Amino acid sequence: MGKPWATFGTDLHLEQTGPHVRAGLEEALRDAVRSGRLPTGTRVPSSRQLAGDLGIARNTVGEAYGQLVAEGWLTSRPGAGTWVSEQPLADRTAGAVASPKAAAAVRYDLRPGAPDLSAFPRSGWLSAARRALNTTAYDAFGYADPRGLPVLREALAGYLARVRGVSVTPDRIVVCAGFAQGLELLCEVLRGRGATTMATEAYGLERDRQLIAAKGLGIAGLEVDQEGAVVDDLGDADAVLLTPAHQFPLGVPLSPKRRRRAVEWAVDGDRLIIEDDYDGEFRYDRRAVGSMQSLAPEYVVYGGTTSKSLVPGLRLGWLVLPAGLLDDVVEAKRTMGRLSSAFDQLTLAEFITSHGYDRSVRRARLAYRRRRDRLAAALSKAAPRTRLLGVPAGLHALVGLPDGGREADIVALGARHGLGLEGIEPYCMPGHRHDPALVIGYATPPEHLFTAALARLCAVLGSDHDGAGG
Ligand SMILES: Cc1ncc(COP(=O)(O)O)c(C=O)c1O
Repeated sequence: MGKPWATFGTDLHLEQTGPHVRAGLEEALRDAVRSGRLPTGTRVPSSRQLAGDLGIARNTVGEAYGQLVAEGWLTSRPGAGTWVSEQPLADRTAGAVASPKAAAAVRYDLRPGAPDLSAFPRSGWLSAARRALNTTAYDAFGYADPRGLPVLREALAGYLARVRGVSVTPDRIVVCAGFAQGLELLCEVLRGRGATTMATEAYGLERDRQLIAAKGLGIAGLEVDQEGAVVDDLGDADAVLLTPAHQFPLGVPLSPKRRRRAVEWAVDGDRLIIEDDYDGEFRYDRRAVGSMQSLAPEYVVYGGTTSKSLVPGLRLGWLVLPAGLLDDVVEAKRTMGRLSSAFDQLTLAEFITSHGYDRSVRRARLAYRRRRDRLAAALSKAAPRTRLLGVPAGLHALVGLPDGGREADIVALGARHGLGLEGIEPYCMPGHRHDPALVIGYATPPEHLFTAALARLCAVLGSDHDGAGG
């Protein structure tokens, strides 16, 4: 028998078991404490209140409390009330699941994938949230349109056209839970239309390859050279996923010639290009490389995300879709049922239109550019035989190791120094190999740890062990 139990404004579900009311109540309370549902310090209701809530005699509750106090589960002070007492560690942590991140925790994290999470513009975001909540009519708080809230699509359309040169109107945008969901939706729709193969750069996110494969599409790997993906090898794939502005993780942009080739391939064969513009805002040394989508908006899907420009935890991204795909993608999203929070969408819309987003990106760009410069200067001194690649843009750089430098050894050596490192190998598709290199996410550490992270990286690379030092 389960009963809801009100504790001074906090509801707790108590599962009473067995024929004996008092013993059942005691066991239910022990279980709630043991599992952490009633944390240490929680004040439990008076015996009168609980007896009333559960419809049992007050004495029964009083006796159950007395027993639990005697056993050390509860503490009671006459006149003041009864609390959950401090439990031995083993009890409190029983059943707790260790997070994978905790297991892999490193103090100096130079693995790619995340921006500096500590730099999230908290106060700007909070102000935008407050303004949005104060000015939005309540009907925006219902189940949101699967395409995303109109106010956010409006804001994004203006921003993407202005900053990334995307050819876009709000009705072509579908907001999604990061680029990952966008890719999932596209694969679902393509598969439903009979597609069998998605081409993609042979060096990239394993996550994306898993998403594509999970939707039943085969994957064809494209080599990448100094001009970006070798699009001449696209063959008869049904679609291609590219990172044209800054190949992930090698860092090269797709050359104008290759962009044109890819677009010709798509137009001639009525195929699709998916442009993953994951870090398009972060340009340092050269003029911005605009979006590829504007070359052929009916054949290129533009995908963007807040995972680099703000933080991945927001889970907000977007697709700008050709007319011919729009309805099917919206329908797939409706069916999938994973809508983005209306509150986060409203806040992001306000953050963009009030230019808080621009300011935040500008600040981040400046900070990361400085870090990039410091990385380059430090490595040229401490490890002159390494080669730094992919540096004009983005939040990561490729550090090519000299002959004989073994990625795995360097990653392991880094770990012994509390340094989180990643080699290129996990990004390579099976059957494709790359010269040994590290993918350094220089944006990842919080500002106050960056200097130490860099010093450790130099120590690891500069040691005789890897042969990268001078
Ligand atoms: C190549 C690439 N695309 C996209 C993303 C962002 O994905 P999402 O928006 O799902 O967080 C990342 C993040 O690391 C990435 O490296």
